[in-house]
Amino acid sequence: MNDLGDRLRVAARMAHIEPFEVMEIQSLAREVEARGHDVIHLEIGEPDFRTPQPVIDAAKRALDDTRMYYTSALGMAALREAISGRYRSHYGIEVPASRIVVTAGSSAALLLAFGVLLDNGDEVLLADPGYPCNRHFVRTLGGVPRGIPVGPESRYQLTTALARRHWGARTRMAMVASPANPTGTLAAREEVAGLAALARERGGTLLVDEIYHGLTYGMDARSAAEEGDDVYVVNSFSKYFQMTGWRLGWLVAPPAMVRTIETLAQNLFISPSAVAQHAALACFSPETLAITEARRAELDQRRRFLVPALESLGFRVPVVPEGAFYVYADCSSLSADSFALARRILTEAHVAVTPGKDFGMHEPERHIRFAYTQTVPRLEEAVARIRRLLEGKA
Ligand SMILES: Cc1ncc(COP(=O)(O)O)c(C=O)c1O
Repeated sequence: MNDLGDRLRVAARMAHIEPFEVMEIQSLAREVEARGHDVIHLEIGEPDFRTPQPVIDAAKRALDDTRMYYTSALGMAALREAISGRYRSHYGIEVPASRIVVTAGSSAALLLAFGVLLDNGDEVLLADPGYPCNRHFVRTLGGVPRGIPVGPESRYQLTTALARRHWGARTRMAMVASPANPTGTLAAREEVAGLAALARERGGTLLVDEIYHGLTYGMDARSAAEEGDDVYVVNSFSKYFQMTGWRLGWLVAPPAMVRTIETLAQNLFISPSAVAQHAALACFSPETLAITEARRAELDQRRRFLVPALESLGFRVPVVPEGAFYVYADCSSLSADSFALARRILTEAHVAVTPGKDFGMHEPERHIRFAYTQTVPRLEEAVARIRRLLEGKA
C-alpha cells in the first residue's frame, strides 16, 4: 500500500512551474484590505472597464434564443468569418476564416500552437522579461523555453540578431509578443519580418502574440499575419474588448496545420464557450468599437499621466511603452530588491504592484510593473501615497 507521501506525488514537470507572484501580491492585498485599508490595485493585468454593453446584450439574447451546445472545435463559422473580416477592415489583409481557430482565450491558442509544434526537448526562444505563462506552457509540453535577456537597447523585444545568435540545433520556434507584457513595447515591423525569415531559413516557426492589439497609443499596430501564412498569430477578446472572464481568443494558423490543430482542440477542449462566441459576434460592430476606442483614449491619458509621475518618484522608464496598459519601471535607484519594495508599497502605501520576479530571470530585482488599470484620480492618489512612503512620511 502507498503511504500518503506517494499518493500525493506530483509529476516531475511541476518542478518547473512557478506560482504567479502577482497572485501572492493579490492575497497579501486582500489581507491589507481585511485590516480595513483602501488598496489601489495596479497589479492586475485587466482594466477596470466592464465588457461593452452591446456584447453583454448579444450574450443575453443568445442565452434566450439559442441552445448552448458545443460548437465546432474550430469555433462558430460566423465568428471565424467576423474575425477574418476584422483583418480585412482593420489591417487591410486577407486572412481566410479557414485559418482561424477560436479558442478559450489566447492561453488555449498558445497551448494548441505549442502542442502541435513541440517535441520533447525542442527549444523556444522568448524575450526575458516576458509573459510568464509562455515558459510554463512550453515546459508542460516537454519543450525547453530559452529566455533571451532583452533590455531598453532592443525596446525589450527579441530581435532577429538576438534570435540568430541564440538559434541552436534544438531550436524549433521563436516567439514575440507585440505589444508585450510587462513592458508595453512593440516589435518593429522589420524585426517581425526578419524573425519570420530566420524561422523559415532554419526550418522553424515564428509565433506572434497580438493580444494587446487595439491598445496601442498614437498608432495602430500591424499584424504579423501579413508576413506570410506560415506565421502563427495569437489574439484574444480579453484585453481590447474587456472580456477577460469570458475566456475567448483565437489562433491564426498555417493552412496545412488547421486540421491537426482541430484534432488537438477537439480532444483538449471539445469547443470554446458557446455563449462567449455569441457575445463576441457583437465585438466588431460600430457601437462596440466606439466604446473600445473611447477606452483606448482613456488608457492613453492614464499612460501619459503615469510615466512622468513615476519618473518624478525616482523610477526610470527608459523606453516609453506604446501599448498594453503596463509600465515596467526600473526601481534600482530606490531599492536593490524590487520584491521588498513592492511589499513595502503594498503594506505601507496600500498600492498593489507586481515585482519583476514574475516576468523572468533578467534583472527582475530592478523592476516593478505598474498596470494603469485604474482611473487617473486613483493613479494620482497611488502616486501621492508612494511619494509619501519614499519621503518617509507614509
Ligand atoms: C502577453 C499575454 N499573452 C496571453 C495572455 C493570456 O490571456 P487570455 O488567455 O485571457 O487571452 C496574457 C494575459 O495577461 C498576456 O499578457
